[in-house]
Amino acid sequence: MIIIDKDKKIFHLRTKKMSYVFRILKNGSLGHLYYGDTLSEDENFDYLANVENKAAGTIKYYENDSKFSLGAETSEFNIYGTGDFRQPAIELRISNRLFYPEFAYVDHEITYRKERIPEVPRVYGDEYENLTITLKDKNLNLYLKLNYSITDESSAIVRSSSLINTSQHTYTISRFMSGTLDIPSADLDFISLSGAWLRERHLVRQPLRMGIQSVGSVRGASSHQQNPFIMLAEKNANEFSGTVYAASLVYSGNFLAQTEVDEWNVSRILIGINPMNFAWQLKPGDEFKTPECIFAVTQKGFNEISHTFHNIINDNIVEQRYKNFQRPIVVNSWEANYFNFDENSLLKLADLTTKIGADTLIVDDGWFGERDSTKKSLGDWFEDKRKFPHGIGKFAEHIHEKGLKLGLWFEPEMVDPDSDLYRAHPEWSIGKIDQRRSFGRGQLVLDMANPEVIDYLIASIDSMIERTKLDYIKWDMNRNITEAFSNYLDNEHQGELLHRYIMGVYKLMSHICEKYPDIIIENCAGGGGRFDLGMLYYSPQIWTSDDSDGVERLMIQYGTSMCYPLSSLSNHVTAVPNHQIDRVVPLNFRNNVSTFGVLGYELDLSELSEDELNEIKDQVSEYRKRQKLIFSGTFSRLKSPFCGNETAWQVVSKNKEEVLVGWYKVLAKPNQRNQSYLKLVGLEKDYYYSVSNDDTIHSGAALMNMGIRLPYDFNGANQETAQISGDFQSELFTLRKVNKKVI
Ligand code: DGJ
Repeated sequence: MIIIDKDKKIFHLRTKKMSYVFRILKNGSLGHLYYGDTLSEDENFDYLANVENKAAGTIKYYENDSKFSLGAETSEFNIYGTGDFRQPAIELRISNRLFYPEFAYVDHEITYRKERIPEVPRVYGDEYENLTITLKDKNLNLYLKLNYSITDESSAIVRSSSLINTSQHTYTISRFMSGTLDIPSADLDFISLSGAWLRERHLVRQPLRMGIQSVGSVRGASSHQQNPFIMLAEKNANEFSGTVYAASLVYSGNFLAQTEVDEWNVSRILIGINPMNFAWQLKPGDEFKTPECIFAVTQKGFNEISHTFHNIINDNIVEQRYKNFQRPIVVNSWEANYFNFDENSLLKLADLTTKIGADTLIVDDGWFGERDSTKKSLGDWFEDKRKFPHGIGKFAEHIHEKGLKLGLWFEPEMVDPDSDLYRAHPEWSIGKIDQRRSFGRGQLVLDMANPEVIDYLIASIDSMIERTKLDYIKWDMNRNITEAFSNYLDNEHQGELLHRYIMGVYKLMSHICEKYPDIIIENCAGGGGRFDLGMLYYSPQIWTSDDSDGVERLMIQYGTSMCYPLSSLSNHVTAVPNHQIDRVVPLNFRNNVSTFGVLGYELDLSELSEDELNEIKDQVSEYRKRQKLIFSGTFSRLKSPFCGNETAWQVVSKNKEEVLVGWYKVLAKPNQRNQSYLKLVGLEKDYYYSVSNDDTIHSGAALMNMGIRLPYDFNGANQETAQISGDFQSELFTLRKVNKKVI
């Protein structure tokens, strides 16, 4: 509900889970008032709005009004140059000169519903109520629109901004954030999902301090190193309680997510496209729209923030056709064979895929051009005749005859200098052709801002899809953009390249999604280097990390789940010793970790014993029964791998009838009490639940206050005197509500 007090010029965006309040300030700009738990419809905000600003040392806006300084006001979209010296939300130039727009309220509009637009990732849904505030520069014909969208069941607010040029001049936008949020406290921690290739999205928590703390990417992709999702949390906030604010960007390119704490302990979040190397020419008649950002707030800790994001992603970002769609259980050829395969070895892998009960064979890197290593053929999207002497169409027929689905790996955005494509079109690659360029994996990046490149990729991928009746695409992207220069754009437009690049990627992905609705795209960027809401708009699942070691995955999946739902985490059981870290973790531990996401396999199944194949077969069949619960239930984290030797998490179905709990203990510890319990959350306290591995039933209240009993085994050699359990213990518990109420 959007409540507007015209006299007081206050806008109150109100849902069952939050209130968001702002007002029009004296100079016509917007001042933020409140974001937090729902307040009453007729709440009187005078005490927030009519504060006499006595902050000393500020620059006043009007000569004769000593009480009005933008430096001391909270804001909805701050502009540099007026006495608010914090980093601006927008920066505009004319003929290379910075100028200081004065955007003032003109009018507002309320609309309903947010449409899905194929080529632009955004939150969509019939349930949205939208408020657009239009502001106009006092001197120039420039309009700024601030968009806000809410739904009744969520604490989230979706924001975006756009700039419209109705003047005769061209302006350069050198910075344009999607949204800002002022929080009247700095006694908070700044939390990010940070890491590296093979250890993406680890949880990093550090205290806020005066000044700027930020995460971002200037790599042309959202990146392995930082994720476009941050939280500000009260010092005592944990998974279950405490105030937490979160911000995320619906975008896959360069981003900035920062907090600036001013001298009065106001924390301002800014989130949007990274201004580094961004310069957009806004010509007369043009409009530039930022990507959307999502803010969320709760008093109930990190799990509640995750539930908010998981719901939005599942219901309002991912294409709805995937929602009730049984996701494929794949066997992927990469860690099974790397580049060393041909149609015969793949057909054998296909037979074993059938044997374990999986349903899709993914032929990863190496099937095209003359690709025997990472140094050749990217861009040549036709089959390698040495590996497929009977043609890839015939191979696909064999796979389909076996009752399997087929997936192929593509890395559409890349080109190898040793490829037919590069020989024909060197100017399609990013960077000046006659100058030194940096290489990653020996490859260059294609200029996705060039429509001819997109047309070429559409034609070659379409042809392969049609020849193979393809069911699945693994879309990889293995290097970041350096020496950013487009041979297609003129000098004036070079600052647009990195945004145009990602819009080109979206165009190509939307083409595939629209033309081939039965194909599922799994996203990947050297593992989880582009795990973001922009990619999830087109591909409902993302390869979480190239590191598939069971222990490392506990941290990666735990951190990733802060923002992203289990339905988006692609997790494969791989071989031991693990190819990334050489660790040997038992098969059931690897399965029990991978189960919390989209399960798949990526190992040479022919090297496994009959017993191991049977164990996997059982795991696949168990997972099939659980997939609906895992994807549609409410996921909560119970014990953090960043805090100790044990990790635990759970999923509860929306009707609270079914529960799946995963518990993991990495290293054995001697002499531990064998009566240890794990407290669950979100059950019906007045009903009984049956617990697998236990003959008794327990009330929801007991399971939430005392917990399920953990299997601390005595299986060491000297079990008479000490408790030494083996390393890598884990257990999955299934709970079911029984039709019996506690009396
Ligand atoms: C990086 C990906 O993350 C891997 O899964 C695999 O597809 C390789 N690229 C192939 O080159």
